[in-house]
Amino acid sequence: MDDLHLRKIRTMPLPDEFPGVHAMGDEETEAALRVCRSKSLYRYYGMNLLKETSSFEAEFADFLNIPYVVAVTSGTAALHTALSALGVGPGCEVIVPAYMWVSVIAAVVNLGAIPVLADIDETFCLDPADVARKITPRTVGMIAVHMSGAPADIVRLAAVAKQHGIFLLEDCAQCVGGSIDGRRVGTFGDMAIFSFQMNKNMSSGEAGAVVTHNEELYRRAVASHDAGYSRSDTGKLLMDDTTSYGWGRGLRLDELRASILRVQLRKLPGTIDRMHQSKYKIRQWLETCPELSLRRVIDPNGDTGCFLITIFPDATSAHAVNDRLRDLGIASASAETSNVILADYGMHIYYNIPALVHKVGTDYRGSPWSLTENQNSIYTYAKGTCPRADDLFERSQLLAIPSCLSHSDEDEILEAFQEALASVFQLAS
Ligand SMILES: Cc1ncc(COP(=O)(O)O)c(C=O)c1O
Repeated sequence: MDDLHLRKIRTMPLPDEFPGVHAMGDEETEAALRVCRSKSLYRYYGMNLLKETSSFEAEFADFLNIPYVVAVTSGTAALHTALSALGVGPGCEVIVPAYMWVSVIAAVVNLGAIPVLADIDETFCLDPADVARKITPRTVGMIAVHMSGAPADIVRLAAVAKQHGIFLLEDCAQCVGGSIDGRRVGTFGDMAIFSFQMNKNMSSGEAGAVVTHNEELYRRAVASHDAGYSRSDTGKLLMDDTTSYGWGRGLRLDELRASILRVQLRKLPGTIDRMHQSKYKIRQWLETCPELSLRRVIDPNGDTGCFLITIFPDATSAHAVNDRLRDLGIASASAETSNVILADYGMHIYYNIPALVHKVGTDYRGSPWSLTENQNSIYTYAKGTCPRADDLFERSQLLAIPSCLSHSDEDEILEAFQEALASVFQLAS
C-alpha cells in the first residue's frame, strides 16, 4: 500500500446525525422532571395537569403560522391520522415519491388505498410534471415529501393539486423548520405531517404532529388520533360532532414527550442555523468542482441543512468517491446514515421495500391489492418504475451534516473531498 492509501484525514468518527439530540441539555431534563413530579402524564386530565401537550400544539402552530396542530405519537401515526382525516380508503390512488421513507407508503396501504409511484427530479423530491402524468380518475391526492432537509418544489406541486382537484399532504418529517421564501413547509398543502423521532431536527425520541388550516380536517384528525371523537377546548369528548366522529387509533401524545418538544422547539432555529452554516461552507466549495453537481435547492435560505447530496457523472465515480471518503475517515459511527450512495439507502428507496415490490397485503385477503374497489389500479413497484430516480439513486451520495460540527470537522470534510476528487478523477494537485 502506498502512502496515499495509508493516510487518514480523520481517525475519530464524525458525530452522529441526530440533529435535535446534540442540542439537548439540562432544560429537557428539567422539563421531563417537571412532568414526572406533577404525576400527570396523560394529556387530557390528571392530578396536577400541566397541559404540556396543548401548550406544545399552540407553540408549534405559532412557529409554523398555521391555526391547527394535533400532536401524535410518531410521524407514521401522523401519516395515518392525516390520510384518515382526508377520507382515504379502498378505490383511492395516492401519488407518492420514489424517494421517501417506507411509512409514507405504509400509511396508504394500511388504509386500503393504492400507492402510485411518481418520479423525482434534481430536487430529490416529487417532480411536478410526473405527478401530473400519474393522475387518473381514481387519484385522490399526493404526498409531497420534503426529503433530506430541503423543501420540495411545493408551490408547483400545490398548483398541480389545485388544477386536478386532489389533496396535497406535505410530509415534513425530514424538514422540520424548513421554508420557501420565508413560509414554513407544512403550510402549503391541505394537511402536513411532522416527525420528532431521534434522527429529526427536533426530537423527543418518538413523536409527531398533524397540521392544517382547515377546521373540519382538524376535528377529523383529533377524532382519528384519539378515540374516534373530537374534543372541546376543555378536553371533553364531543359525541354529537357528526362531521368528525368515527373510529379512533389511540395515537395521543403524552405530557412527558410534549414537555421535551417544547424545549427542542425553542432550540430548533439554533440547531438549523448550525447545520446550515456547515452545509453551505462545504457546498460552496463543491459548487466550484466541475466533476460533480449538487442537488437543486429551491430556496437555500429555507434549507435546514441536515444533509448534503452530491451527484456524480456515473455510479462508478460516485462509489469511488464515497469509498475514498470513508478510507480517509469521513464517516460517522452509525455508517448507514453517514455517507451512502442513495441506491443503498434502505427503505427510503422504493425498490428496496420488499413488501411493496411484492405487493404484500395487510390481511388474509391481500388488501389493498386484491380489493374489488382497486381492480383498475394495477401498478408495478420494482426497480425501473421511476427511471429518473433510479439513475439519480445510482450516482448520488448523501452526507449527513450533524448539528455539532466544529470548524475543523468542516475543514476535514472539505480536505477529504478535495483528495477524493483528485484521486478518483486523477486531477493534478
Ligand atoms: C419522510 C418520513 N416520513 C415519515 C417518517 C415516519 O416518522 P416516524 O419514524 O416518527 O414514525 C419518517 C421517519 O423517519 C420520514 O423520514
